[in-house]
Amino acid sequence: MKDYKRYLLTAALPYANGPIHLGHLAGVYVPADIYSRYLRSKKTDVIFVCGSDEHGVPITIKARQEGISPQDVVDKYHYLNKESFEKLGIAFDIYARTTSPVHYETASEFFKTLYDKGEFTENTTQQYFDPEASQFLADRYITGTCPHCGNEHAYGDQCENCGTTLNATDLINPKSTLSGAVPILKETKHWFLPLDKHEAFLRKWILEENTHWKPNVYGQCKSWIDSGLQARAVSRDLDWGIPVPVEGAEGKVLYVWFDAPIGYISATKELTPDWEKYWKDEDTRLLHFIGKDNIVFHCIIFPAMLKSEGSYILPENVPANEFLNLEGEKLSTSKNWAVWLHEYLADFPDKQDVLRYVLCANAPEAKDNDFTWKDFQARNNNELVAVFGNFVNRALVLTHKYFDGVVPVMGETDEYDKSVLAEFAIAKDKIEKALDNFRFREALKEVMNLARTGNKYLADTEPWKLIKTDETRVKTILNISLQLSANLAILFNPFLPFTAKKLNNILQLENLDWEFGGKENLLLAGHKIARAELLFAIIEDEEIEKQLQKLRDNKAKNDAENQTLAPSKEKIEFEDFTKLDIRVATILEAEKVPKTKKLMKLLVDTGIDKRTVVSGIAEYFEAEKLIGQKVSILLNLEPRKIKGIESQGMILLSEEKDGTLHFVEPSKQASNGSQVN
Ligand code: 2FM
Ligand code: ZN
Repeated sequence: MKDYKRYLLTAALPYANGPIHLGHLAGVYVPADIYSRYLRSKKTDVIFVCGSDEHGVPITIKARQEGISPQDVVDKYHYLNKESFEKLGIAFDIYARTTSPVHYETASEFFKTLYDKGEFTENTTQQYFDPEASQFLADRYITGTCPHCGNEHAYGDQCENCGTTLNATDLINPKSTLSGAVPILKETKHWFLPLDKHEAFLRKWILEENTHWKPNVYGQCKSWIDSGLQARAVSRDLDWGIPVPVEGAEGKVLYVWFDAPIGYISATKELTPDWEKYWKDEDTRLLHFIGKDNIVFHCIIFPAMLKSEGSYILPENVPANEFLNLEGEKLSTSKNWAVWLHEYLADFPDKQDVLRYVLCANAPEAKDNDFTWKDFQARNNNELVAVFGNFVNRALVLTHKYFDGVVPVMGETDEYDKSVLAEFAIAKDKIEKALDNFRFREALKEVMNLARTGNKYLADTEPWKLIKTDETRVKTILNISLQLSANLAILFNPFLPFTAKKLNNILQLENLDWEFGGKENLLLAGHKIARAELLFAIIEDEEIEKQLQKLRDNKAKNDAENQTLAPSKEKIEFEDFTKLDIRVATILEAEKVPKTKKLMKLLVDTGIDKRTVVSGIAEYFEAEKLIGQKVSILLNLEPRKIKGIESQGMILLSEEKDGTLHFVEPSKQASNGSQVN
């Protein structure tokens, strides 16, 4: 690889229509942050940009769902996500937004340049239009039956049941989700980026010159190119987005995937007046960190845009990751099957590095991978606590105990000492090589192996026994252990920045520059270290069970919400209704029926009499709290014996989709015995 003068790292701009979850982190932000921290610790000229992707249909859908404006949606999630990233130590140089004036200007200018250069084609196509809502419909706003699997709730762009990518016109019985109307096809004009025109360039640039890209990335690009590139529309009929900046484009906005990647440029502009150096000089190494669903946009479409514009560099690499699953199931925002970052940070406020560690150790670099809470606990307890934390803690505590917190002299070293020190020097090269090739899992494993070596070194040499007979030897052992600890602070720093900083403060190292890693004299004899502190704490089973329960609850809630309502019953005559004698009543006494789960024996005042009713409400109400409760009761139901008790009537209840019961509660002013008609 050529010697670059500077680096520009971009991390996919997350849509500001929801919080960040572990899938986003493992796929994009944790690896990108590790890489940028690694480069910074090498004193490389690097900038790391990200921000919120604030346009596109998903934002407008969220706004509709929540009954707020798209601007409210993006404001809410922009700040939430920005703060969550900061708390996790994802250290962007800027976290911008695609609704910023600088971005509007940059994206508009970009479009204008391509337009003026004749880089677009114009085409009039037929598109679905909602005659009731009087607007063109984005594919996501149309549902219908999937022609492949028969799923009646497929979207205009995809069937989530069989995973097929669809065109809205493929749907059988299409329906607008805005009004429920049957959409009609109507002509509309759009601007297209003719990717077919760029095929020769893309073929050469990717398939011949970028053979160093990861196999998953290269493979996806190859299959796109081989199946024939087609012109892509870069405008949309939508009322949320950057207006198409040419005449005759009223009511049209830039396609979100046209403006979003330009967001990397506008973010850099907002960050530094020197932005052009990063975007237009061939000595910059541009790297896009993304998830696999973004490959085509970053490897084919955006480069074609940049090439058409003419003054920008192209990405040197696009280290895209695969997906992270959760407890064996696909992560899903809509199904709430996710661990949300802001919730994790609230539940584990001082465990940022544990999450960073687990997500990196288990990163879906070459294939999809699974996050489980049990693995999270095991990696914390068996690796961070038992290996790294334990080793460092023993080295620190023994130094305080025997030498008053002063680094002792390294005396004569034996073969074992030498081999341990050599291992650190050699491992540094291996770690560097792995990091340089975006193999973060492997790099982290190597660092943890060094901690393991340190831990074993102390266990084997047993300075706590030797202290009685050979203090000089103990000095050497602890000196070496402290040097190893200092090395670990440096080498773990890109991965676990909070812990590295803590360890740095304890060891009172000057800095954590990468160049000092692998060295054996980072701490001079006589140097005083600060008080020992534990780097990590055990995570108990209860904490993990709480997280698992949260997932189960979310799932149950989601299932209940998605259950369809029972269809309405057949019509009845008014006379049928008048046969029902429904009255207002008050519960006087309540007790659970022994040996049953659901039954409650109630004594109610019906105004006419006081009678016993058995009702299946015990799972939802406590007996004591029922006294005085006003209810509606069906009085003239034939009495029935339930568990040996005669029930004289029926309390009216409404039932939620998940089985939760509520009373059909009369107003407090309604008196007992009054009729419900
Ligand atoms: O997939 C996504 O979440 C997109 N918002 C990523 C955009 S990346 C870049 F192009 F802005
Ligand atoms: Zn289908």
